[in-house]
Amino acid sequence: MARDPTSNSYRPGATIEGVTAIWDRMRRVRAGLAAAASTASGRHEFSALRTELDHLVALTRANHERVLQAIGGSGDHHLATAWNVTAAVHRDDMIFQFLEERSNNQDPLERYLRTGRSSAELLRALVLAILPLGDPGSSFDLLEFASGYGCVSRHLKNVLPGARVTASDIHPQAMEFIGAELGLDVALSCPDPAAFELGRRFDVVFALSFFSHMPEHSWGQWLAALFRHVGPNGCLIFTTNGRITRDAFWSEVEIPLNGIWFAASSEQRDLDQNEYGSTITSVDYVRRQIDSHLAVPVTFCMEGLWSGHQDTYVVRKAEPTRHMADLGSTSWKSSVPGGRTGRTSSGEEPWSRARTSW
Ligand SMILES: C[S@@+](CC[C@H](N)C(=O)[O-])C[C@H]1O[C@@H](n2cnc3c(N)ncnc32)[C@H](O)[C@@H]1O
Repeated sequence: MARDPTSNSYRPGATIEGVTAIWDRMRRVRAGLAAAASTASGRHEFSALRTELDHLVALTRANHERVLQAIGGSGDHHLATAWNVTAAVHRDDMIFQFLEERSNNQDPLERYLRTGRSSAELLRALVLAILPLGDPGSSFDLLEFASGYGCVSRHLKNVLPGARVTASDIHPQAMEFIGAELGLDVALSCPDPAAFELGRRFDVVFALSFFSHMPEHSWGQWLAALFRHVGPNGCLIFTTNGRITRDAFWSEVEIPLNGIWFAASSEQRDLDQNEYGSTITSVDYVRRQIDSHLAVPVTFCMEGLWSGHQDTYVVRKAEPTRHMADLGSTSWKSSVPGGRTGRTSSGEEPWSRARTSW
């Protein structure tokens, strides 16, 4: 995609003519998929929509390659410079592709960098409230599970300078990229939670947008597998799609009585969609899973906190040292202008309306 030499934004229409219409159609097809997946009679429609979505994804791919050539070639961006991170994006980075497909002619790299920075800042706020670190620069071990290709990881050394970060994902090429390009330790994950064992423990295990994709048969097992990697006094921080995500993006979905809805469809087209799809869970479902698999109290739970819609949970291997209500009273705000984390799309602070419990 051509770039305007006087700014860091992409020139609308230069090479994405017609692509906006494809993105619009993709949005509708995704909504249709979610609706079809939730009814028994929608099975036929579901497979037709999946075929159409594959076709639309293929159509945007050529454009995607051009975007990556444009940004990857020069490797610079004003935000990357300001935040002291690389602007390099892996060609298979599905978070980038997801943002790009919905970018409506905005600079997708800018959105990618802002998104990652916002998440790193919110993670920092939670970690500082939970761990007895003393000062923000104190050292601790952090496992960023399901890191993808480093959307958040690249910001961690600046935002949490004391963190000794290990990134883990199921995609080997993501691990290669994070190791080589971001210089972080990496550990390849696997499809089976029972087999996931890194042989060490971490002060913080962080899983962003992972449980929002797990099916019922492995949901609790992954929870147990990640909590197993938390050391004494450490914590697991994770997000889910809950009621607020449903209302915002999948209003037609009825969450079943058992509290978990799953559709075998996701952005990660190369993964088995029965093992990694789209999941919505109620707070009660998550609490029951924590209770039965971890047998510890929920340290912190706030609906809609992450990205203005994902529910956020913290579970500790010990009692909290600082009351988590401090978080609410300090009202964490992203310093990222327009950053997606910490505010709802309406601009309302999620703290003000979300349910908080301990
Ligand atoms: C929605 S992405 C989230 C990426 C990143 N946490 C973020 O929010 O930018 C989910 C990630 O989970 C990874 N994943 C899927 N199954 C996994 C598994 N069994 N072990 C580790 N990562 C997995 C995918 O490869 C993908 O990178």
